[in-house]
Amino acid sequence: MSRIFITGSSDGLGLMAAKLLAEEGHQVTLHARNDARAADAHRSLPRAEAIVVGDLSSIAETRQLANSVNALGRYNAVIHNAGVGYREPRRIETVDGLAHVFAINVLAPYLLTALMTPPDRLVYLSSGMHSGGDASLDDPQWKARRWNGAQAYSDSKLLDVVLAFAVARRWPSVLANALEPGWVPTKMGGAGAPDDLSLAPVTQAWLAVSDDTAAKVTGQYFYHQKLHPVDRAARRTDLQDKLLTYCAGLTSTPLPG
Ligand SMILES: NC(=O)c1ccc[n+]([C@@H]2O[C@H](COP(=O)([O-])OP(=O)(O)OC[C@H]3O[C@@H](n4cnc5c(N)ncnc54)[C@H](OP(=O)(O)O)[C@@H]3O)[C@@H](O)[C@H]2O)c1
Repeated sequence: MSRIFITGSSDGLGLMAAKLLAEEGHQVTLHARNDARAADAHRSLPRAEAIVVGDLSSIAETRQLANSVNALGRYNAVIHNAGVGYREPRRIETVDGLAHVFAINVLAPYLLTALMTPPDRLVYLSSGMHSGGDASLDDPQWKARRWNGAQAYSDSKLLDVVLAFAVARRWPSVLANALEPGWVPTKMGGAGAPDDLSLAPVTQAWLAVSDDTAAKVTGQYFYHQKLHPVDRAARRTDLQDKLLTYCAGLTSTPLPG
């Protein structure tokens, strides 16, 4: 039996993975953006061990969330699942003056990783759209570029893989991997998404708890429980270090170790 914390588990793939893991007898802590969504999450999975609250678009709330989770004890696995999609019609600025998509999809998993007691396994949700992403960090806050929601999402999902691989390299005692779940009909994916929804939460649950040799690797990228090609930029250690330095500067919180 493992203890697993899943961000963004009030809905979609986070909630589906939580249900799979709970059905297997694991203890799952859910996360919602506010109290109303936490109540929804509780109704969806009453047997969850705990539910924590925090809006990941805010550095202060994300920091508080890390404190709340740490107070619940150490986790065996954390699934960084929460995310916003590619349909934002304009650049939305967070309370910290950052681009909304970057703040939620990249900076929040970075900060939670840096602040939470390290688990045995870390799982980061990327997307097939990562392959069109720009990991240069030349304009991560979309101050110079004309807004393009799909590009902002692609950039963020490539940076999620860069983050996963950076953590894998920095923390050899932790298994840190990334995956794409397929394009599936959640709130984010939209009703017309073509891939199999039932398969979409399986790989992240498997990476979090399985004793299969194939799941007990680090610094790898998966699709449907198989190793999958990943943009070669994610393997560049200079980009990995640049991302860690950039996120550390934004949050005044370096990655330990
Ligand atoms: N669906 C797809 O086709 C697809 C494809 C590739 C990758 N992915 C990735 O899979 C992950 C899950 O996506 P999904 O399809 O399950 O999306 P979803 O149904 O929209 O669920 C996203 C989850 O993240 C939460 N969230 C969003 N913004 C938040 C914030 N500021 N603070 C706290 N929580 C926040 C949402 O809370 P609310 O419910 O309150 O909004 C929800 O629980 C994402 O990382 C996504 O990039 C999805």
